[in-house]
Amino acid sequence: MKFKNLIFFFLFCLASNCANQPDDESQVPKQEEIPIPVTVPIDEALYRQNGCETCHAGNGSGIVERKMNTKPADFRVKSSYKNGYSLPRIVKSIQNGIPGTEMKAYTHLTLYEVTSIAKYIQKMQDE
Ligand code: HEC
Repeated sequence: MKFKNLIFFFLFCLASNCANQPDDESQVPKQEEIPIPVTVPIDEALYRQNGCETCHAGNGSGIVERKMNTKPADFRVKSSYKNGYSLPRIVKSIQNGIPGTEMKAYTHLTLYEVTSIAKYIQKMQDE
């Protein structure tokens, strides 16, 4: 578009108030289609938002569709942890990751966040 045409278009737009055209309501979901807000405890929210459940599953079983080179522990069973099931050990696993596996180091999380997630994992442990 030539510069002159651009100016004309701009003036036309100003004159016809095109930014204030009525909205196309059909594009917006109806109120009943919008999920109702729910409150999720911070520990669970952090576990979910950081994608832990994509590899470890929502219940911590480690049974997911995703293909991984090493099978993650079942967080519910203490004896299945390879790097320790105590709070400090779980914190360490999250902070440092497990080198050579899909478990990456979550270095961007604060100690508060990591501890919160670690406690959530401990809540899954069955004894
Ligand atoms: C891309 C997949 C993936 C994601 C995402 C992931 N993990 Fe892992 N995680 C693994 C794998 C695989 C292992 C097992 C590594 C091994 O062989 O020791 C593991 C191991 C662990 C362990 C150590 C368990 C043990 O055996 O001692 C903890 C704790 C853990 N993950 C927590 C988390 C948390 C918390 C998150 C989210 C912040 C997370 N993981 C995200 C794949 C993942």
